[in-house]
Amino acid sequence: MSVTISPSLLSCHFLEMGADIKRLDGINDLWLHLDIMDGHFVPNLTFGAPVLNQVKTITKHKLDAHFMVTNPEVYVEGFKDVGLHNFTFHWEAVTHHDRLIQHAKTIYPSVGISLNPSTPLSVIPEYILGKIDLVLLMSVNPGFGGQKFIPAVLDKVKELNEIKKKNNYKFEIQVDGGVTDQNAKDLISNGATNLVAGSYVFGAPNMDYATRINSLR
Ligand code: DX5
Ligand code: ZN
Repeated sequence: MSVTISPSLLSCHFLEMGADIKRLDGINDLWLHLDIMDGHFVPNLTFGAPVLNQVKTITKHKLDAHFMVTNPEVYVEGFKDVGLHNFTFHWEAVTHHDRLIQHAKTIYPSVGISLNPSTPLSVIPEYILGKIDLVLLMSVNPGFGGQKFIPAVLDKVKELNEIKKKNNYKFEIQVDGGVTDQNAKDLISNGATNLVAGSYVFGAPNMDYATRINSLR
């Protein structure tokens, strides 16, 4: 099965967002990665439900929301009409993880947990890994596109994949931050099943995003 690529709209051309999204039409195994930032959990602000309600009307791709927010509990209800496929929250931002997962699962087909680069895998108990759909390993410090990949995250991908295989878990292993054709192969061979890429995809010459997406695979 081919790896899923999730182009991050954070790096699209915002004044022609609709046209950029249409340039991704017809590409297989593609999710649209939506970075929702609150200016608090991370030092940046992006977009929210009003923008995404319009995004959903012009694409058939699955919507993959990455909440970089202090209180993701509030957003579970706030985004319920946006048609998100995946709802990922940061482990570091939450106290009652299990409650949040149970709530999000009643609304979204896929629920994910994200870890900052410096947060070890050991914070997530194995029983939680058995009930979620995706683990997002950040390979940059969250908040901005266009940063450099942190190589130590490759070992984290490998370690997570070993836990996944040992227990026959089904969750996707998503990697986000500084992903390019220089590291995609290693990430995939170590167990990544979903690669987020912002500046690499949307920085393509002549806006030829499909070529860049294929080169990640
Ligand atoms: C960073 C975001 C990423 C970002 C990736 O906080 O979570 O999704 O858009 O951008 P690149 O691929 O340029 O590092
Ligand atoms: Zn992201």
